[in-house]
Amino acid sequence: MFTNRIVFNTFKAVRSNVLFCAGESSPIFKRCGHCQATRGPSYSQLQTSDVEWFKRCLGESNVVTDVERLKSFNRDWMKKYQGHSQLLLRPKTTQHVSEVLAYCNERSLPIVPQGGNTGLVGGGVPVFDEIILSTQGMTRILSFEESSGALVAEAGCVLQALDDHVTGHGYIMPLDLGAKGSCCIGGNVSTNAGGLRLLRYGSLHGSVLGLEVVMADGTILDLLKTLRKDNTGYDLKQLFIGAEGTLGVITAVAIQCAPRPASVQSVFLACPSFEAVTKVLGTAKTMLAEILSAAEFLDQHCMRVVEEQLEGVSNPLTDSGTCTAASAAVAAAPGSEGTNKGPACTDSNTTTGCSTSSFASTFDPDNAASSSSSASLQLPPRFYMVIETHGSHEAHDVEKLDAFLEAVMSEGHVLDGCVATSKAQSDSMWHIREVIAEACGRAGSVYKYDVSLPVQVMYQLVEAVQQRLASQLPHRQDILTLGYGHVGDGNLHLNVSVPSGYSQEVQEVLEPFIYEWIQGHSGSISAEHGIGLMKAGALTYSKSLKAIQVMSSIKSMLDPKGIINPYKVVYKQQA
Ligand code: FAD
Ligand code: MLT
Ligand code: ZN
Repeated sequence: MFTNRIVFNTFKAVRSNVLFCAGESSPIFKRCGHCQATRGPSYSQLQTSDVEWFKRCLGESNVVTDVERLKSFNRDWMKKYQGHSQLLLRPKTTQHVSEVLAYCNERSLPIVPQGGNTGLVGGGVPVFDEIILSTQGMTRILSFEESSGALVAEAGCVLQALDDHVTGHGYIMPLDLGAKGSCCIGGNVSTNAGGLRLLRYGSLHGSVLGLEVVMADGTILDLLKTLRKDNTGYDLKQLFIGAEGTLGVITAVAIQCAPRPASVQSVFLACPSFEAVTKVLGTAKTMLAEILSAAEFLDQHCMRVVEEQLEGVSNPLTDSGTCTAASAAVAAAPGSEGTNKGPACTDSNTTTGCSTSSFASTFDPDNAASSSSSASLQLPPRFYMVIETHGSHEAHDVEKLDAFLEAVMSEGHVLDGCVATSKAQSDSMWHIREVIAEACGRAGSVYKYDVSLPVQVMYQLVEAVQQRLASQLPHRQDILTLGYGHVGDGNLHLNVSVPSGYSQEVQEVLEPFIYEWIQGHSGSISAEHGIGLMKAGALTYSKSLKAIQVMSSIKSMLDPKGIINPYKVVYKQQA
């Protein structure tokens, strides 16, 4: 294994003082396999003198050149994108970020901002040899206003850590993602992450109160207000929310937290068709109304892959799971049991489901579904939903939930279901939904499409892709196409998992077919994951040329030398 010193010596012997590991496999002269970009000709090569300067600025321990340590920062979460950076910087303060950017701008050294590296569109990893600027050393919580719920934290704070912090003050973060244990708030804001609570608490464009951003030339832009209202001209912070690190480096975030709900009710439902899912959603919106906080769906393929790939995770509505139809007859009177009051789950601290006996349902499909079609009850469920309410009065919420369940069951839209009667049971329901991404990744290399579409046509895209793969690649029976997502927000996650790995053959069947389909149905090619590297060439399917021109002008104005996260979002190949 090369040590830093040997790498330095090697390059010195090969090509004066250019740090890059020269040789046939040097990536810097190659095209990016994903966007066909070539390394920007105006960018400088990293020199030893640069590395020495960064060490003096940040301290030796915050400058990483060790090839082994760089590996996980060069590779994205899906293992789809591979960067070739030779340098990772870990600034600890905004001042450090500012000095680093001023230096890089002066030297024309490109950088890629990185938080938890959980992004799903290749936005947070280098394409060629960009310097990785990690915010993981910036983890201070700067303030929390008890009366308003305004939290101010440095960009590298992990979402889960922030949620834990504000829990102690009676609040919750306005966003929740399956990646909460590793993603950072700066990355969340930069991707304008949506997640599992957006339906209730809105997008980050609403809940972010202020930002501190370091611009390409090192200027610190202080927009770190904690006010709810501030109409003082252009709302500059909005530019950086969802900019995917192409306009500046976010160093701190002020965000509005929501009061922690006193009553949380979660249900897991089985539906016979996607049409039924849309009907359940419609009924939830009208009957649960102001307390509806999450409406998620997954298809039967997701359930299968989760059960197959992850030990201990099982369908709560089957015998092997936690809540069989047979056991679903523990009819509690409205208000009698809340999420936090039910019997303790035997497995509360694990990622598995609870034992069957401890997971009581509070409604009985056979009794409740008095007018449901017996034919539909005999069909195997093709879809599942997780629905959650957040409210302040348990009896009120349970009463509403019971009425809602009765309605959707009597109409035949729900075949079966269970209600969590403890926090552990609720967690294990959510776990099934949250680990789909991980399970798909274990089953194969995943082509991920994160799509906004009118809810009525949403699942037709999954079926269209299934049909297309079957007709174009009939010999590829191993490919798994599945759909899940934030149905309450009109956001589908279409995943195509290929056990034999990423291939041009599969990609060409999927693209541009999927993008054209989305465009033809008035959707968006990115609901919440962003554009990154993956969709930089596909932006025209969702944005007009004029809009892209304006975006490019903003990029050129804020980052004239194009040093921040090149090749991503609106990258224009330099001549
Ligand atoms: P990174 O991956 O490190 O970076 C993402 C982008 O932001 C990159 O373009 C990077 O350059 C930029 N960036 C990072 N930090 C900064 C900064 N401080 N300043 C400027 N730019 C920066 N997304 C959703 O929207 N909803 C979900 O429900 C959801 N669930 C997920 C579940 C799993 C299991 C995984 C792996 C991902 C999920 N995601 C989801 C993807 C989502 O984009 C990320 O999880 C998260 O928002 C990215 O945060 P991060 O710190 O990991 O950012
Ligand atoms: C999710 O909702 O689970 C995430 O956005 C991750 C994914 O799309 O797989
Ligand atoms: Zn999502």
